[in-house]
Amino acid sequence: MSKVRLVLEDPHGFLRWLAAAIERQVANLDEVDVAQAFAIAATAALARTERPERIRLVGDASGASRFAHALGVDQVLTGADEPEARERGRTVTLTRVKGRGPKEQISSKIVKLLLPSTPETLEAANLFRYVLVELLRNVGQHSQDPLGGIVAAQINDAGPYANKPALQLVVVDNGIGIFEALRRARPSITTASEAIVRALEPHVSGAFAEGESGSGENAGLGLFFIAEMAKLTDGRLFVASRGATLFLDRSDDELAQPVLTNGDAPDYPGTLVVFETEIGHVHDYDGIMARIRDAAKERTPQRIVQHWLRFSDAPAGVLRILIGVASEDTAEAQELARTTLHPRVTRREPVVLDFKNMRVCTQSYLHALLHETVRLAWAVKTPIYVMNASPAVRAHLELVEAYSLGG
Ligand SMILES: Nc1ncnc2c1ncn2[C@@H]1O[C@H](COP(=O)(O)OP(=O)(O)O)[C@@H](O)[C@H]1O
Ligand SMILES: [Mg+2]
Repeated sequence: MSKVRLVLEDPHGFLRWLAAAIERQVANLDEVDVAQAFAIAATAALARTERPERIRLVGDASGASRFAHALGVDQVLTGADEPEARERGRTVTLTRVKGRGPKEQISSKIVKLLLPSTPETLEAANLFRYVLVELLRNVGQHSQDPLGGIVAAQINDAGPYANKPALQLVVVDNGIGIFEALRRARPSITTASEAIVRALEPHVSGAFAEGESGSGENAGLGLFFIAEMAKLTDGRLFVASRGATLFLDRSDDELAQPVLTNGDAPDYPGTLVVFETEIGHVHDYDGIMARIRDAAKERTPQRIVQHWLRFSDAPAGVLRILIGVASEDTAEAQELARTTLHPRVTRREPVVLDFKNMRVCTQSYLHALLHETVRLAWAVKTPIYVMNASPAVRAHLELVEAYSLGG
């Protein structure tokens, strides 16, 4: 019997196995003993039927094969764009996600299918949803994969995970890869391994040039937040993207982190991101986010700014705009900014943004809404008032203001 194990303890072992499969154009799961969701998703992406150069996925006898079929691998090869629960509360089916549209609904659905809504898992659910929204958004914004991405999620609670269940999230595409996506805006980046490292830094994005703090839609903070979340929760992050891989493993030795490979070792033909952390390690979502924002602020050069986002009461008669979208659609946020906020601020009319319907959201969403808006407000010296912001939303807003007006 084979002893091949495609597990996150050894992601490079998986990439070697995959490289051989790509070479043969057949991935045979019967030669695999154990495969975690990330390995199945990354292999399935390459076997999608629309791909002219697809590999064939075979096998139905091994543990790994049975797991792959239970995960819905057969359906995802041709379609499957709605996640469903499998093995109640332990896996959801592989799901295709395409396009630049909102990512909140599908992310919420996946997290809900996996984590019971109890007070104990609420914090972890918020964190996992955040990671999913940002990763799915990256596929839509940057990958250029016409088929979009595949998302998978699995709770592991056996073997090394016994008594400390961990959730593994996977988002994978077969697009242009991080190096290609970044290098146009960052000509100083000359290798794929450098690109992966820089992509995890705050304010590094293929959407705007060096020295700027953001374009309308992008802040370059998505992967930075995710990498910091992995570190702060003693989790793992594996990124493999054309030409390089980066592995942030659980480790006591901070100096050993991260492990990078470049063109010498097998990579992934596209972008594969795996995030995993113990559910029980996430008990303070707001605290984790606060620490990450502080780290981002520290790495943004600051000049003294007067605050144009005001958390005090607005004068009477000021127009109130309800920010209630639960869609996490950055394009829509930018549209709202352009059509509603910018004209008023330009005319020096203060506005009130009312966040009563938005308890948590991503940094990227508020960036899209406010990066250009606060710069305009600063230029014309007109305040933007904020009401009903939860502590989490307020802290995100303060970070947007800090880097938008800083530097
Ligand atoms: N799936 C992907 N495919 C190609 N490039 C990607 C992908 N995900 C991230 N990137 C690259 O990494 C950069 C940083 O991503 P991120 O930190 O989320 O910031 P942002 O999305 O705001 O640019 C992106 O600008 C892009 O160049
Ligand atoms: Mg992003």
